[in-house]
Order: sequence, then structure tokens, then C-alpha cells
Amino acid sequence: MWNFVSPQIVFGEEALDFLDELKGQRALIVTDVTMVQLGLVDKVKVHLDNAGIEVHIFDEVEPDPSVQTVRRGAKIALDIAPDWIVGLGGGSPIDAAKAIWILYEHPDIEPAAINPMADLGLRQKARLITIPTTSGTGAEATWGIVLTDTEEQRKMGLGNRENVADIAIVDPAMASGMPRQLTADTGLDALTHAVEGYTCTWYTDLTDGLCLNAARLIFQYLPRAVKDGSDMEAREKMHNAATCAGLGFGNAMASMAHAMGHTLGAVFHVPHGRAVALFLPYTIEFAAGEEPERFAELADFIGCSNEGGEKAARSLATHIRALCQKVGNPTSIAEAGIEREAYEAQLDKLVDDAFNDTQIITAVRTPSYEELRQLFLYAYDGRPIDF
Ligand SMILES: NC(=O)c1ccc[n+]([C@@H]2O[C@H](COP(=O)([O-])OP(=O)(O)OC[C@H]3O[C@@H](n4cnc5c(N)ncnc54)[C@H](O)[C@@H]3O)[C@@H](O)[C@H]2O)c1
Ligand SMILES: [Zn+2]
Repeated sequence: MWNFVSPQIVFGEEALDFLDELKGQRALIVTDVTMVQLGLVDKVKVHLDNAGIEVHIFDEVEPDPSVQTVRRGAKIALDIAPDWIVGLGGGSPIDAAKAIWILYEHPDIEPAAINPMADLGLRQKARLITIPTTSGTGAEATWGIVLTDTEEQRKMGLGNRENVADIAIVDPAMASGMPRQLTADTGLDALTHAVEGYTCTWYTDLTDGLCLNAARLIFQYLPRAVKDGSDMEAREKMHNAATCAGLGFGNAMASMAHAMGHTLGAVFHVPHGRAVALFLPYTIEFAAGEEPERFAELADFIGCSNEGGEKAARSLATHIRALCQKVGNPTSIAEAGIEREAYEAQLDKLVDDAFNDTQIITAVRTPSYEELRQLFLYAYDGRPIDF
């Protein structure tokens, strides 16, 4: 038995207008200070004002939100008793909003206990709206929540199908001001979702089309969005692609590149999308010899190779590296600016945490601990390693 969950998705130009008709009393916008400074919170507030909804703002979410931040936000929610929680921003505020919502409904729950088996009984106090301002994580459409344990420098993959948003507002105007580097990093995150959602072992007939279409859109439009941020066609296509990829991988799974990227991000603070996309081609090469079919199908669909089998899978890896380079992003750990000495000093932790990450269980070729270690070393500078 499989499940497919999705919010109601309002998308395209002027999607924010949907909020004018929202019914409710009080909203808590969960966001970060940059969103306030850029005027994006005001853009949303105008519509909630039109709907006669009282607006409160919690703007303290940091990139890669911590459990402590979520607890602070939940306390504010308990004080003001909103009937809407609005996650506004990139993946960080949206994930924080999901967790704040759960703690608001269940003040006694430990964030680490938010898992797919729990019976949360949400929507007794509030419902959730997500409004992405990056075109990347797909968090607006997924039920996954990534929180960081700052003491253990570890990212925790949490979430439960119940905590998928009720409404996602996917309006390209909210992401059109992203600077070049953020556009590249987050767009490559969406690509990694599309590729891993299609090629992990939990793919389904319902997620395949979403992942394929997202991958094709991203190869076509990401270079344009990075080159010229005012290209609104490219912005809109990327915003839609990120949500498609979110629905795709969110109802399937991500895979090894995410497991490896999470640990790199937690230890070396490499932005999420940059980290996962960097690892993606190495993980494809690791699988290519034994399980190339799904990679080959994807390669064929996006028009990078119709040779089938291992050759096509390897060609997909090359194609992804070329896209990373085209948008100015690193294709190895060395290029990401991490010193070999510092990297090797953390290698045991990186391998341990990736080996224990939930995303690794869906890898088409399951790595042994030693193979994973070799893969981390391979990704340092691309010096070939015999798997
Ligand atoms: N829940 C999921 O399904 C899921 C999937 C992938 C990643 N994630 C998580 O999402 C987080 C990363 O999210 P992200 O990559 O969207 O970045 P982010 O939310 O961490 O934001 C990064 C920076 O970009 C700024 N920013 C956001 N939108 C902007 C805009 N329009 N203009 C200018 N600046 C803007 C933010 O203020 C912040 O400083 C990580 O914690 C990652 O683990 C979650
Ligand atoms: Zn991701």
C-alpha cells in the first residue's frame, strides 16, 4: 500500500491573491528576518489584512532551524492561539512552521518523536499554509521536516503525513528576488529531489511523472534563472519545478546524495542544495555498474543519452556536473572550499551520520560502511576509486 499526500496547491502569477478570501481569525507567520527586510512578509500581510485576519510574526528562524527555535516559536503560538500557521520563506522557515504547528497542537511532544508512525491528530487548533520564497526544497508540498540538533551537529529527518500543509501558495513573485547563488543552490536541490525521487527504491507510478517533468524543467530553466534573475518565465518554471519535485520525492524518498549532503551541511555548513547536488553524480556513478536502468531512463527522458545501461547512467552524472559548473557551483568537496585536512578529520563522523541517515535506506545499491567512506573520499576531488 502506498500513500500520496499533497496540499491544495495554488500556483502561478498572483497566486497570493488567494489569501484575500481566507477564512479565519488569527495567523502566525513563521519566517526569518531577511523575509521581513525584503518586504516579503508585508506582501503576504496585505492579503491577510484584506481577509480580516489578525497577523502575528515570528521571524527568528535561522537557516537549518534548530529544535530550540521551534520550541520558542511554539511558545508564541500557544500565547496568541492562531487558527492559521503560515510558513513563509525557504525550506528553513517552512520546516520550522511545520514543527511549531505540531508543538502548538501537542505541547508535550518531543520534536525528535515526530515520526511517520505517530498519530498526531492535528488540525484541532490550526491549519498550515506554506509560501516558498526559494525554488528548491519543495518543503511547501512535502511532509518531511529537517531540524538540526546543534549540540550533536546533526540533522534530523522528521515528519508525519498529517503535517503536510493544507494550502501551498506557489507564487513566482515571492522567489524572483533571489540572488544568483541562492538561485543556483536551491535549484540544484530541486534537481537532486527529482533525480533521487525517480531513482530511489521507493518510486511509484504517481511520483515518476512529477520527477521526470521537474528534472526536464530544471535542466532547461535553471541556467536562465541564474543568468538573468529578471527572466520571469524561467523563475516561474523553476518555482513550479521545485514544487513538482517536492511532490515527487516527498511521496517517494530522496536517497544517498541527501544522506551525504545532510552530514556535510551539518558539519561544514555548506548550503543544503549545494551539498546534495555535489554528491549526486558520485552516487550515480556508484550505482551505475550494478543498477543503471532508472538513471538511464531519466537520461533518455531529458535528452542527455539514449544509449541505455551503464553508459547512459554515467552520462547523466556528467550532465549533472556540467549543470553545476554552468551555474557556478562546485562539483567536488575541494571546489566547495573545504581543506582536505579538515575534511579527513571529520571523515568518521561524516560516514557514521550518513550511514545512519534515513535517506540511505532507499539507495538502489546499498553501500557498505567502507564503500560509503570511499565514496566520501572520491567526492573530495574526484580522484577515481575502484568500488
Ligand atoms: N522538508 C523538506 O522536504 C526539505 C527538503 C529539502 C531541504 N529541506 C531543508 O530546507 C532548508 C534549506 O532551505 P532553503 O535552501 O530554501 O534555504 P533557507 O530557507 O535556509 O534560506 C537560506 C537563506 O536564503 C534567504 N532567502 C530565502 N528566500 C529568499 C529570497 N526570495 N530572496 C533573498 N533571500 C532569500 C533566507 O533568508 C536565508 O538567509 C534546510 O534546512 C534543508 O535541510 C527540507
Ligand atoms: Zn533537498
